[in-house]
Amino acid sequence: MTDLAAAWTQLEIAAQAARERRIEDLFQAEPQRLGRLVVEAPQLRLDLSKQPWSLADFAAAVELARAGGVEAARDRQFAGETVNPSEGRAALHMALRAPKGSDFKAAGEPVSAEVDATRAAMAALAAAVRSGEKRGAAGKPFTAIVHIGIGGSDFGPRLVWEALRPLEPQIDLRFAANVDPADIALTLAGLDPATTLVVVVSKTFTTQETIANARVARAWLRAALGPAGDAHLLAVSAAPDVAQAFGVPADQIFGFRDWVGGRYSVWSAVGLSCVIALGAEVFEAFLAGAWEMDGHFRTAPLEANAPVMLALAHIFNRNGLGRPIRAVVPYAQRLRLLPNFLQQQEMESNGKQADIHGRPVARATAAAVFGDAGTNVQHAFFQLMHQGTDIIPLDIVAVAEASEGEAANQTKLLANAVAQAEALMVGKPERVVREELAAQGLAPAAIDVLAPQKTFHGNRPSSFILLERLTPQALGALIALYEHKTFVEGVLWEINSFDQWGVELGKTLASRILKELEGAEPGAHDPSTAALVARLKR
Ligand code: F6P
Repeated sequence: MTDLAAAWTQLEIAAQAARERRIEDLFQAEPQRLGRLVVEAPQLRLDLSKQPWSLADFAAAVELARAGGVEAARDRQFAGETVNPSEGRAALHMALRAPKGSDFKAAGEPVSAEVDATRAAMAALAAAVRSGEKRGAAGKPFTAIVHIGIGGSDFGPRLVWEALRPLEPQIDLRFAANVDPADIALTLAGLDPATTLVVVVSKTFTTQETIANARVARAWLRAALGPAGDAHLLAVSAAPDVAQAFGVPADQIFGFRDWVGGRYSVWSAVGLSCVIALGAEVFEAFLAGAWEMDGHFRTAPLEANAPVMLALAHIFNRNGLGRPIRAVVPYAQRLRLLPNFLQQQEMESNGKQADIHGRPVARATAAAVFGDAGTNVQHAFFQLMHQGTDIIPLDIVAVAEASEGEAANQTKLLANAVAQAEALMVGKPERVVREELAAQGLAPAAIDVLAPQKTFHGNRPSSFILLERLTPQALGALIALYEHKTFVEGVLWEINSFDQWGVELGKTLASRILKELEGAEPGAHDPSTAALVARLKR
């Protein structure tokens, strides 16, 4: 048996024992629990003490990380080696947030000078737009941006904007992603083409949804401004020639390289709309926060390394305890898009069936992730979180100090975040429920019916991530925390976290069916699909 196989076996044995005990009992038995399972990482505090592992289990998990070669894999990634072999690419998004003058190399080729130049060009454009120096075809300053992109070309910028946007922004930044015509129609509604920039973001510049929406926006500009409307188009792409052929002026195309994966691209020119709408200083601070987390990930020992620890906690639940779903609940309205972002980040990265050598994976890979903002979700799926038949581990993300608004509301928000984590773990035993019902004068027969329904078995795990304030730095560190945690999981599952072959089949069939819906002869389909095609053909 290899060291790695032995370490997995140890983790699985440890997890079996965890089924038989209660998390809260571990605090009594382990006086060092908080000291070991709470880590102060850059910009955030990560508390994993309400996870089901004992300190001995945690040590076994750290041993798994060691045996799985996490440190060496991390160093290979930072060195720009080809950690995405199926696409023959490095995955070097950390180079995008490194301080100016850094010396990153992707597959041996220096990249930092180009990164710095792109950052400077974005900052210059942002300053020109924000000052009114750069104007539209009709001579008016720009007051709105329509950001068109999907997947990694949408989730990150959208999250950043929601998290950091001023209460009264100078620039009205809007997004359109879905090919549903309603999306771009709603986004453009009420905007003046003469004062609107359209930023088309697509790594490939071939994505069906993005190009379809970009065509609508281009037509909207041209209808109002004539051919000069094309001057309102900006593009961000790793295929600049395709963007230029689309009509984007060459000096308004911002590039990034193939070593930036779509779901890791928010740090690149993909963030251009945010750079303009927030200002370059804000975006630079966002990058700096992520870079702080990179430093922590690179240097902290495994047992005090936040991304590694978070990955191990998730693995303990996923592989040790067989839990296929995880919830993420930001107790911060401004972070309500974090679960959407993480759905792509984690599930597109690690929802894999074959390992990096092409063998079937040895064990379960990514959990399904869902969530939304607390406290709203307490009035939706938290019934199931507390009393459903499946145990769903939860990541809570909270912010100590509000960005704005009524301080008393913020205190209520935090009370809810803390209370939910406690309630999930501690529960409320049937004995206590029975005593309460008896004290209320209920008859024994009624108590027998009601008590089980009002009991909380508890023992449901959560992680608690606390930011002091939702600054650009803290947001950068939070996103980088999850990026690295996803990478660590991928290393231990021996999969490639940077490709996404699983999205291809649906795209191919959609192209074929599109032609059929537009009038081509129907091809061979199963009867259900054939009937749908026939029904929808116009
Ligand atoms: O969903 C598949 C995918 O390729 C993602 O990985 C990517 O983020 C998204 O499509 C958008 O791709 P592009 O930036 O090339 O338009």
